[in-house]
Amino acid sequence: MSVTCDVVVLLSGTGSNLQALIDSTRTGDSPVRIAAVISNRADAYGLQRARDAGIDTRALDHKAFEGREAFDAALIELIDAFNPKLVVLAGFMRILSAGFVRHYQGRLLNIHPSLLPKYKGLHTHQRALEAGDTEHGCSVHFVTEELDGGPLVVQAVIPVELHDSPQSLAQRVHVQEHLIYPMAVRWFAEGRLALGEHGALLDEKLLAASGHLIRT
Ligand code: GRF
Repeated sequence: MSVTCDVVVLLSGTGSNLQALIDSTRTGDSPVRIAAVISNRADAYGLQRARDAGIDTRALDHKAFEGREAFDAALIELIDAFNPKLVVLAGFMRILSAGFVRHYQGRLLNIHPSLLPKYKGLHTHQRALEAGDTEHGCSVHFVTEELDGGPLVVQAVIPVELHDSPQSLAQRVHVQEHLIYPMAVRWFAEGRLALGEHGALLDEKLLAASGHLIRT
C-alpha cells in the first residue's frame, strides 16, 4: 500500500522548481501530493503555476505584519492547516525565525544555487565566476537555524565553462535543480530520507558532509 506524503511549498518568485515538483508528481506512482503552495507575494508567478495545476494557493503578505516573529507565527498557522509531512522552500525569499525552523525541524527542505558550504546567500553564480571556480552547482539541504547551513542531502556538480556568464551558469544550474529537488522530496516521501542527530540519513545511513553527489 502506498502512503501519500502531503507537502506544502513556499515560494516568492517564478517557481520553476515548483513546476519540476508538480511534473514529478504526475508519474502515477509518486507518493508526493502537493497540498498547497504559499507565497509572501500575491503576484508570484509560482502561485499561477499552482492554480494551473489545480493546487490550493495562499498569499500572506509579510509587510502586513509587525516583525518576523509575527509573520512566521501566521505562516505556521497557515501551513499547519494543511497538515503537511514536509515543507519545501522553493525560492522563498524570507529569512526564517528560529521558532519557525524549530517547529519544522527534520521536515523542512531548501534548495540553494551553489555547492554549499560555498556561497551562502545571494549572487552565487557571479561569486563562483569571480572566484575562478572550475565547478559549480546546487544543493538540497535540511533547514536549520544557520542560514543555508543545514545538513546536505544532495548536490549536483557541473563544470564551469570558459565563456560562462552568471546567466548561462544559472541556466545550467537550474536544469540540475529541477532534477535533484524532486528526487530529494521523493526520498523523503518514501520514508528513505531523514534528519539524524549527526546529519542527513538516507536509507538509515549517514550521508557524507556533501550529501549524495551527482556529477554531470
Ligand atoms: C532557485 O535558484 C533556488 O536555488 C533558489 O531560488 C531559486 C528559485 O527559482 N533557492 P524558481 O523560482 O524555482 O525558478
